[in-house]
Amino acid sequence: MFACGSAAVAAAAPRILGRRGVCATRGARALRVLGLESSCDDTAAAIVSSDGQIISETVRHQHQVHEAYGGIVPGLAADHHLRNMPLVVRETLEKAGMGMADVDAVAVTRGPGLPGSLAVGVAAGKTLAAVHLKPLVGVHHMEAHALMARMGAEDAVRFPYVCLLISGGHTLSLVVHGVNEHTLLGATRDDSVGEAFDKVARELAIPWIDAEDGGGAGPALEALARDGDPARFALPLPMEKSDSARSLDFSFSGLKTRIRRMREQGAFSAACRQDQADLAAAFQHAAAEHLQRKTRRALAHAAAEMGVAATCLVASGGVASNHAVRAALARLADRHGLPLVCPPPRLCTDNGVMVAWAGVERLRCGLLDPYTIDFIQRWPLDQLKRMGYQRRSSSLF
Ligand code: KG4
Ligand code: ZN
Repeated sequence: MFACGSAAVAAAAPRILGRRGVCATRGARALRVLGLESSCDDTAAAIVSSDGQIISETVRHQHQVHEAYGGIVPGLAADHHLRNMPLVVRETLEKAGMGMADVDAVAVTRGPGLPGSLAVGVAAGKTLAAVHLKPLVGVHHMEAHALMARMGAEDAVRFPYVCLLISGGHTLSLVVHGVNEHTLLGATRDDSVGEAFDKVARELAIPWIDAEDGGGAGPALEALARDGDPARFALPLPMEKSDSARSLDFSFSGLKTRIRRMREQGAFSAACRQDQADLAAAFQHAAAEHLQRKTRRALAHAAAEMGVAATCLVASGGVASNHAVRAALARLADRHGLPLVCPPPRLCTDNGVMVAWAGVERLRCGLLDPYTIDFIQRWPLDQLKRMGYQRRSSSLF
């Protein structure tokens, strides 16, 4: 489903846009889309083909840059994107054995995210597309996470589906009706779940880890929690009182505050490894259980109030690479007779593949953008369909 393909594709064939702007190919060759991502602290690029193959991908993380500050420093992130973006694009093309002439379109994350970071990717994407006369697709970062699960598996992950997007920037549940069409079900009332993982890791003084397939505070907390006993410091679940229990929203700041208070009251020592591990396990358990309960409500709401017959439950975003979270969601999906679909961990965190794939999906629908687009810092996902995209055929196809 997420197999890495080689650069070997059949010779280029002229392509046409079919009815309603849907891309069709005359001949055998699939479209190849270059995707760029720089919305937060990862600079990433990938080339993906419309038949779901990853031709090449490159990510440069910045964990070491930000660790000393205990969080992402926007100015530093932008500086590093400026330096890294040209290298990442070049490396991705080289690994694919391709030049820009072999790329059919450029997709770039347009928002939401940190303005300085987004600006680097959008400028790079627009320039590459304009200079090489390629169609440009401005991608919503969260739509890219939500569509990622379909790459090479469009028959299994059919619309509509219920999707849980759990990252450092967002915690939300939605119905994905189709490309560009999403209904928001629930969102966090305070911290995102990824932010909570990061802040609790800081509270517990857990050093970040650096890993090829994504490091940072969340994976460090998960690794430590493996040695912990979640029952020793059992934490109360958020929003379990009657009113808020019915809500589809999430809340994570209470868990973080409780752990801070416990530290201030001397209930544990962040210098003791077993205390760290037990609290990490307790937090992870509570976070996973809260996500599971709210997703159960989201599934029930989608079915009963919206008449949505979901084909599956999709979870994506950085926190969906957490094994305890996946296990809790897998149990839930199983109870509903639905498959749980999560991209592999490295494609759950920010990456260029998801942007390139969202580019493929949007191109197929004729959702192209002009070379004049700017980044959008705040961009609610359900606003996409109201943005008045004109489905159009590109003269470049
Ligand atoms: O999707 P992502 O890479 O970037 C955003 O769009 O935010 O998500 C990053 C977030 C960070 O908060 C990171 O600590 C968290 O996802 N994360 C994890 C894990 N891997 C990444 N949290 C818990 N367990 C993990 N294994
Ligand atoms: Zn993300």
